Amino acid sequence: MPKPKVLLTHKIPSSARATLEGACDVDYNDGYVLPADALKSRLADKQGVISVLTDAMTADVMDAAPDLKVIANIAVGFNNIDVPAARARGIVVTNTPDVLTEATADMTWALIMDITRRVSEGDRLVRRGGWKGWSLDFMLGMELRGKQLGIVGYGRIGRAVAVRAAAFGLRVVYSDVQAVPGSDAIPLDRLLSTSDIVSIHCPLTPETRHLIDQAALARMKRSAYLINTSRGPVVDESALAWALRERMISGAALDVYEEEPHVHPELLALENVVLAPHLGSATTDTRTAMADLAVRNAIAVLTGQPPLTPVP
Ligand code: GLV
Repeated sequence: MPKPKVLLTHKIPSSARATLEGACDVDYNDGYVLPADALKSRLADKQGVISVLTDAMTADVMDAAPDLKVIANIAVGFNNIDVPAARARGIVVTNTPDVLTEATADMTWALIMDITRRVSEGDRLVRRGGWKGWSLDFMLGMELRGKQLGIVGYGRIGRAVAVRAAAFGLRVVYSDVQAVPGSDAIPLDRLLSTSDIVSIHCPLTPETRHLIDQAALARMKRSAYLINTSRGPVVDESALAWALRERMISGAALDVYEEEPHVHPELLALENVVLAPHLGSATTDTRTAMADLAVRNAIAVLTGQPPLTPVP
């Protein structure tokens, strides 16, 4: 039996690559993101693809891959894939939940600490020679103890962020579009108007696109901070630039953007925002675990087994 043909759109750790090569005939793309035309021609004879979040797996791309059986995304988010189109074509879609929960929650806390204690802003000041010495009222930030953290999207990552909040003495509230009746979830409006830190952890869907728009930002306390480690388009970046410029909120820390790697130019010019380059899951252990899981998902489907982590 010939091995199934798989396109690997991105470099992965050698251990995962060896597992994939053991079971599949692999076409490697070791360079940058494949444009749609290249993706289509490389997928024409493939049964599987190991994709990443920068690969736009549209219905059009799927139509160019008549034998495709599985799209194994190396990410927990799968907004880069037209899942209904895949379902309609009998293509299984998998993602990599759980293995990146702790790393992403840690990164969220790195951003919370950075923006509330002005670490990156201070670093910029020191590097440009602007530090004139210690002073009692110099670069004061916000104390965490006793404050309220509002978590928007109370799934795996939101909960892992909440667990860490106890150590900092923060009270946690949350809202969730999928909140079940009887849960402790509060309405988003109340979360926004009462929280000192608002951290976004929902997936990007038609309902959550620009969930944090100008009206939502205007509801937040002027002393509050916004953190986004989910997907950029959940926040309206122009509205955020307005809110930061007008001091409608105190600051923001972002790991994700509407048009990555493009960052809204107004944000680049502001001091009260921390800008990280989509590093949520970027630890060696986690990225290796993500690649391993995606490879195992692809092999499972291509050998007639159920996928380990199909998208819900
Ligand atoms: C990263 O952003 C992911 O969805 O895994």
